[in-house]
Amino acid sequence: MRFVKAKDYNDMSRKAANIISAQVILRPDCVLGLATGSSPVGLYQCLIEWYEKGDLDFSGVTSVNLDEYRGLPHDNPQSYYYFMNDHLFSHINTDPAKTHVPDGMIADAGEACSQYDETIRSTGGVDLQLLGMGHNGHIGFNEPDEEFAKGTHCVDLAQSTIDANSRFFASREEVPTQAYTMGIQTIMAAKKILVVVSGADKADIVEKAFFGPITPHVPASILQLHADVTVVGDEAAFAKI
Ligand code: GLP
Repeated sequence: MRFVKAKDYNDMSRKAANIISAQVILRPDCVLGLATGSSPVGLYQCLIEWYEKGDLDFSGVTSVNLDEYRGLPHDNPQSYYYFMNDHLFSHINTDPAKTHVPDGMIADAGEACSQYDETIRSTGGVDLQLLGMGHNGHIGFNEPDEEFAKGTHCVDLAQSTIDANSRFFASREEVPTQAYTMGIQTIMAAKKILVVVSGADKADIVEKAFFGPITPHVPASILQLHADVTVVGDEAAFAKI
């Protein structure tokens, strides 16, 4: 694992955006695995800025997002579909036919998940997977569990995740309790993985996930087994390593 220390959130965002830019410049038809949450927002802003300057072209890029709340329609501002359009897709020249987010409105979980696995398969595989990390070590919405889930699956969100994500909703009661998420095997199949972490509240989990035992109780710990992982974090998040 490679650790790239940044001064602060903005510095982390620029450094991570540079890594994604290099991927897009070197391989204009690459497949990006994308993430939501507050960690990647700054790097998406950098990508938009550089696209507007003419440095980047996303027309050939395919993207697959990690996860989506079950039951939230596309036009709900808290859905990850809405988030991706709002924070990235509507500002750059991505081809809507090539941007994929799990469909939270497919009520049948089995169908939603197998459809999304098929979508991921049809891309030919992820070249660069971007990840944030939850306070309990979740990646995508792969919550701590007794085993690592392989493909896309429906998860019951941990109470701590519901609490953490309630900051985006009017009340805790409005946070969906379930989500569809890409599985660990799919994440691990990406050729390269880029993790972004910022803030003092992530310092404990950074140490645990990347230097502690590899266990499904800390889902991000599996990344220690991947051959090409870069973690870009600010000083506060790296305080314990
Ligand atoms: C959410 C997302 C994850 C994200 C995590 C951390 O639960 N499903 O993909 O990595 O939260 O979010 P943040 O970056 O806001 O700390």
